[in-house]
Amino acid sequence: MSHYIVEPVPGVSGAIRVPGDKSVSHRSLMLGSIADGVTEVSGFLESEDCLSTMKAMRALGVRIEQIGPQAVRVHGVGMRGLKPANHALDMGNSGTAMRLMTGLLSGQSFDSELIGDSSLMKRPMERAAKPLREMGAQIATLDGKPPVKITGGAKLKGIRYELPVASAQVKSAVLLAGLYANTPTTVIEPAITRDHTERMLLSFGCQVDAAHGEVSLTPPTQLKACTLEVPGDFSSAAFFMVAGSINPKKDAVLTITGVGINPTRTGLLDILALMGADLRVVNHRSAGAEPVADIEVRPAQLKGIHVPEHLVPLAIDEFPVLFVAASCAQGETIVTGAEELRVKESDRIAVMAEGLKAMGVTCEVLPDGIRIQGRPAGRNEKDPEAKVFSGGTVDSHGDHRIAMSFSVASLRAAAAIKILDVANVATSFPDFPGTAGSAGLNVTVHD
Ligand code: S3P
Repeated sequence: MSHYIVEPVPGVSGAIRVPGDKSVSHRSLMLGSIADGVTEVSGFLESEDCLSTMKAMRALGVRIEQIGPQAVRVHGVGMRGLKPANHALDMGNSGTAMRLMTGLLSGQSFDSELIGDSSLMKRPMERAAKPLREMGAQIATLDGKPPVKITGGAKLKGIRYELPVASAQVKSAVLLAGLYANTPTTVIEPAITRDHTERMLLSFGCQVDAAHGEVSLTPPTQLKACTLEVPGDFSSAAFFMVAGSINPKKDAVLTITGVGINPTRTGLLDILALMGADLRVVNHRSAGAEPVADIEVRPAQLKGIHVPEHLVPLAIDEFPVLFVAASCAQGETIVTGAEELRVKESDRIAVMAEGLKAMGVTCEVLPDGIRIQGRPAGRNEKDPEAKVFSGGTVDSHGDHRIAMSFSVASLRAAAAIKILDVANVATSFPDFPGTAGSAGLNVTVHD
């Protein structure tokens, strides 16, 4: 099992680029595969999660070429052109891949089975299966978890579905099945979630209307291939937004270039701003249907807040690193309404609390969040170099975002941090140690 050793460093600065957006990359392969014509994708994230989707689409008969660094060409087979795979499709560590594929495969004429790694095999799949069954799909799970078995040939009908939890994965699964339904499908969201599926469907010529928390899709006769540009992943940039904010190097600027700033993803910018961070979003442009900008980060003395619950779905993947920021803030930070964190790649509330406590941070686990006491008592709160974390050993429990979050903590650690079970960082950010190194962090990988 590989681990990181992360040594304390004087600080971070300079300009870095993070790899392509994972959510957008998955969707580009799925929609490109069922489009008519050739879809070219640039900025594609070549991470293990997206490669699981690529392998699955290839197993379903789609030709996908890697035509350069972060560039793929998808030879779409049309909405009815997928072929049965001759084995179970292994979605690896990726909940997004499994839930979206469940939707897509519900509309096919053939049977499919989806499996994953030990983490994914424990994650809830009924949340996607339930609305799909209402549409007429035939899906079996094992006590609500994978393997997911989909019986092909079902005639799907459009539904009006009110999501019980704010989940872009479930919304997207229903919309992908809705492509194959005989009537329009509407999904009603309890809170706004990432809208990459909707934006990309529009790029493929499909009619999707979104307003007032409702998304409606009219089943198309075909999707038309297009050219897609994947922006830098906001969730990968998030580690550096926090790094630049808790940076002990006075007056340093860390710039993250080419970051996707889709407003359904940028809750962390709002949360950090409420905490007093100095983040400047500059050089606005677009990558096709997605807005992009550079983000400049300067060190700031953060203060604890009660994170507004409406921002939780807009920052759902950023909480592990936000907990690191909260540990460095003055006063208490409270997160509530975030029970979804318990069913991610790990139970992110429990696993982060375990690691923070191991490094001397006082925190209390809540059923739906956490309470973190920033800055240990007795420190000079005005000193930006005050050490917040003791260093020592923490276990990421195989969760990529936990491993990267504790790497960022090294900026305010008194000693090296050993982070266990880090191989899954490759599911979203294959060269994290390299990029972190170019910003000034010192992350080394050991077997
Ligand atoms: C994702 C949706 C979110 C997020 C995940 C990616 C997506 O999951 O946590 O990393 O690409 O649709 P939920 O829909 O379960 O909240």
